[in-house]
Amino acid sequence: MSRGIFISLEGGEGAGKSTQIKSLSKRLSKIGLNNIQTREPGGTPGAEKIRDLLVRGDVSRWTPKTEALLMFASRQEHVEKVIKPALASGNWVICDRFADSSVAYQGIGHGLGAESIENLHQWTLGDFKPDLTLVLDLPVSVGLERTQGHSLGENRFEDMDTSFHERMREGFLSIARDNPERCAVIDATRSQDDVASDIWDRVLAKFGKIISGQSS
Ligand code: TYD
Repeated sequence: MSRGIFISLEGGEGAGKSTQIKSLSKRLSKIGLNNIQTREPGGTPGAEKIRDLLVRGDVSRWTPKTEALLMFASRQEHVEKVIKPALASGNWVICDRFADSSVAYQGIGHGLGAESIENLHQWTLGDFKPDLTLVLDLPVSVGLERTQGHSLGENRFEDMDTSFHERMREGFLSIARDNPERCAVIDATRSQDDVASDIWDRVLAKFGKIISGQSS
């Protein structure tokens, strides 16, 4: 059996990742490809507990370094206990955020530096990265407007100031520029259907051969 494909969706607040993840999962299932949907921070019972510590409470609850360490603690659990086993058994994995969020939020947003986050990545996960990363991009004001009232108390990051969100958006765009073979930037200001077809086109462009081999 061949290994599954690992796809992460990234972007700022309110970019519509959850809707797009559901839609991508449906399209894969429709052509017979088993897949799981998961998220970060979180994805295992322990990592979900760490998530609660991260997404709730005061903006100043954690220092940036503690925040980065908690993100990678949660990620280590998730990768070893869920993502790698799923891929090894042939499932595709669609993940709502992954390590690029740590580079954009903790590295660039909080100013720890992309290199410190890369070092943490190497120590905890080695070279393990998604096969494709879709960066859903939209202006910060539009994204924050969309998230109003939808956060179920998980608003610690949304409450950070606008300049933090602007740095983070630039962060994602620069990650995509530096990793053109892995990342695709998707214009998320369009309708959900248009964004979904764009995402599907990118998946077919990159994995079309694998898909026709696995689903036949
Ligand atoms: P999420 O629930 O995906 O929020 P959203 O609805 O905006 O997609 O993620 C929770 C928050 O955690 C989100 O504001 C971004 C932040 N985050 C980081 O700061 N670093 C990380 O490595 C990850 C995975 C998330």
